[in-house]
Amino acid sequence: MLQRPRRNRKSQVIRDMVQETHLHASDFIFPLFIIDGKNLKTEVASMPGIFRYSIDNLLREVESCLKLGLKSFDLFPNLEESLKDKTASESINENGLYLRAIKEVKANFPEACVVTDVAMDPYSSDGHDGFVENGEIVNDKTLKILADMSVAQAKAGADIIAPSDMMDGRVRYIREALDENGFTNVSIMSYTAKYASAFYGPFRDALNSAPKFGDKKSYQMNPANQKEALIEATLDVEEGADFLMVKPATTYLDIIKLLKDNFDLPIAAYNVSGEYAMVKAAIERGWLDQKAIAEKLMCIKRAGADVILTYHAKEVLENKWI
Ligand code: PBG
Repeated sequence: MLQRPRRNRKSQVIRDMVQETHLHASDFIFPLFIIDGKNLKTEVASMPGIFRYSIDNLLREVESCLKLGLKSFDLFPNLEESLKDKTASESINENGLYLRAIKEVKANFPEACVVTDVAMDPYSSDGHDGFVENGEIVNDKTLKILADMSVAQAKAGADIIAPSDMMDGRVRYIREALDENGFTNVSIMSYTAKYASAFYGPFRDALNSAPKFGDKKSYQMNPANQKEALIEATLDVEEGADFLMVKPATTYLDIIKLLKDNFDLPIAAYNVSGEYAMVKAAIERGWLDQKAIAEKLMCIKRAGADVILTYHAKEVLENKWI
C-alpha cells in the first residue's frame, strides 16, 4: 500500500495540522428571547438552558457573552396577547419591548452586533408572519408592514435586519425603505430558504407565537424541495440581500452546500430550536455525549455555512468545546 490515509490521523498534532474546518466564536450569532418586566429570567420548558430575559437581565447576558468573544445576537420578543393585532402595530412602537431592547443593547455595548427579526408573528393576533385576510396570507399588504418594522429597527440601532417571513419581494422592498430613510449601512440577512419545518416547535413555545389557524406552508418552503432554494437565492441576490440563510440547518446540509456552491454571498445557517431541544434531551437522558453539540456545529460549517445562528453558541464557548 502506497497510500495509507491513517498516517495523517496518527497523532493529535498531525490531526490538528490537517483539520479542514475550524469553528470560532466569530462564526456564531446567539438568538436571545426577551420578555417585558424586571429581573426576569424564565427558562423555556422545551429548551433547557435557554431563557426569556427582561431587558435588565438581557444586558447582563449580553455582557457575559461578550466576555466569551460572542459578539452577535439575534433578538426575539415574547409579547402579551393583549399587544397583538392584525397589523403587528406593536412592532413599530418605539416604547415597546423590542425596540427598547435594541436601543439598550446598542447603548450599553456598541461593539455588539445586533441582528433583528422581521416578521409579523410575535406581534400578530393571527400568529402568522404575514397579513391575514379571509384566512389567507396576503403578500403585498405585508410588505409595507415589514418595511416599516425594518426601518423602526434600524432607527433603534439594528446592525443587521433579518426578514424571516418568506413573503415574495420583501428583500427589495425592505432595502429600498432602509435606503430612503438613510440606513444604507444596515445589512439584510435574508431567510432565503426557510422551510415549513416541525423543528420550530420549541421557538413558538418560547414566544407563544404559534399560528392561530392553519400552517405556514403557503409561504415557507416544502422540505422536499431543493431547486426552489436556488430560485429564492437568485431573487434575494437580485433584491439586495447581504447574507443568504438556510433554515433549519442539520437536516438541510444539502441546501447549505447548494447555496454555498452557487452564490458568492456569505451563507448563514439557523440551527433551530427543535434541533437544540433534540440533542439536549438526549444528553439529559444520558443517551448522547455532549460532544455531539460541537460535532453538529462543525458539520454545519463544513457543509458551507459561514455564519451559524445557534442556541448552543454560549455553552460551546463557556465549556471550551471548540
Ligand atoms: C418566525 C420565526 C420562526 C423562527 C425564527 N423566526 C418560527 C416560525 O417560522 O414559525 C424559528 C427559530 C427556531 O425554531 O429556533 N418568523
